[in-house]
Amino acid sequence: MKVAVLGAAGGIGQALSLLLKNGLPAGSELALYDVAPVVPGVAVDLSHIPTAVNVAGYGKDDLDPALAGADIVLIPAGMPRKPGMDRADLFNVNASIVRTLAEGIVKNCPKAFVGIITNPVNGTVPIVREVFKKAGTYDAARVFGVTTLDVIRAETFIAELKGLDVSEVKVPVIGGHSGTTILPLLSQVEGVEFTDEEVASLTKRIQNAGTEVVEAKAGGGSATLSMGAAAARFCFSLVKGLQGEENVFEYAYVEGNTGDAEFFAQPIRLGKNGVEELLPYGELSAFEQKAKDDMLATLEKDIKEGVDFMA
Ligand code: NAD
Ligand code: LMR
Repeated sequence: MKVAVLGAAGGIGQALSLLLKNGLPAGSELALYDVAPVVPGVAVDLSHIPTAVNVAGYGKDDLDPALAGADIVLIPAGMPRKPGMDRADLFNVNASIVRTLAEGIVKNCPKAFVGIITNPVNGTVPIVREVFKKAGTYDAARVFGVTTLDVIRAETFIAELKGLDVSEVKVPVIGGHSGTTILPLLSQVEGVEFTDEEVASLTKRIQNAGTEVVEAKAGGGSATLSMGAAAARFCFSLVKGLQGEENVFEYAYVEGNTGDAEFFAQPIRLGKNGVEELLPYGELSAFEQKAKDDMLATLEKDIKEGVDFMA
C-alpha cells in the first residue's frame, strides 16, 4: 500500500502524515510531497517513530517519484482561509495548484484513489475530474472530495449537547463543503430527539464550524488537527476497501446519483474499486428539504467555477 500526501509539510499535511505513520498497515509506504523546503525534514522526523510504515520526503521537483505507483493520494496542498474570507476566495490561488497535482496523478498513478482536501472543495473536485477526463483516465468511483470533517464535527457537537458517547453517534452530512451547502441530517440521528431550536442552532454551528476555527486562530490559518484526524479516518476507510473488507461506509463529495447537483456529498460503500455503491441519503425533514433546495444554486455555481477554470 502506497499513500502519497501532497502538501505534506503544511498544518493538515503534518498532522495527517503523523496519523498515517501510526495507522497504515505494516509494510505500507508513505510518500510526503511539498514545495516547502522543510518536507525532507518532516519525513526524517516521522521516520523515527517505531512503526512498520516506510516514510520518504519529496521536494518540489520530485512530484513524479512521490506519486509513482501510489494507491491513494491525499491532497491538502494550498492556501488556507484568514478571518473575513470565504472558502470561495481561495479558488484563484488553489485552483492551479490542484490542477498541477492532478496532472501529476494522471502521469504517475492514474488508478489511484484521490482524496481532495484543498478548498474550495466544491470547486477543486470538479477541476480534478476535468484534468482526468482530458487525459482519458477519469473514473468517478476513485475521486472524492473529503467532507469527513463535517461528519466528525456533527458527531462531536451532538454528543456534547446530548451527553452521549461520541463513538455511538452517527450523523449523515450531505451537500458540499462550505457554509449552507453543508447539510447535517439531524432527523436521521438514531435515538436522539431535537427541538426545532436545537436543529436550527446545531445546523448553523456545523455549517460555521470552519469559520469558528479560523476566527479562533486569528489569522494563523484554519482547521489542521481536526482535519488531519478526519482525513486519516477517511484514508483508513479507503485502505479497508482496497483490502477487500466489506461494509465500509463513508460520506464524501462525489459525482454521484442523487440528482441534486453534479457533485454532492452522499453515503457511499467503499471497496477495491473505490465507490462500490452509491447509497441514497434517505428521507429529509421539511427543514432539511428546504435547506437542500436553498443550497443548490450556490453549489452549482461553485462546481461551474471549477469546470470553467479547466475550459
Ligand atoms: P498550510 O498553509 O498549513 O499548508 C499548505 C501546504 O501546501 C504548505 O506546506 C504549502 O507549502 C503546500 N503547497 C502549496 N502549494 C503546493 C504545491 N503546488 N504542491 C505541493 N504542496 C504545496 O494549509 P493547511 O491548513 O494545511 O490547509 C491546506 C488546505 O486545506 C487549504 O486550502 C484549506 O482551506 C483546506 N482545508 C480543507 C478542509 C476540508 O474539510 N476539506 C479542512 C481544513 C482545511
Ligand atoms: C474547515 O471546514 O475547517 C475547512 O474547510 C477550512 C475552512 O476554511 O474553514
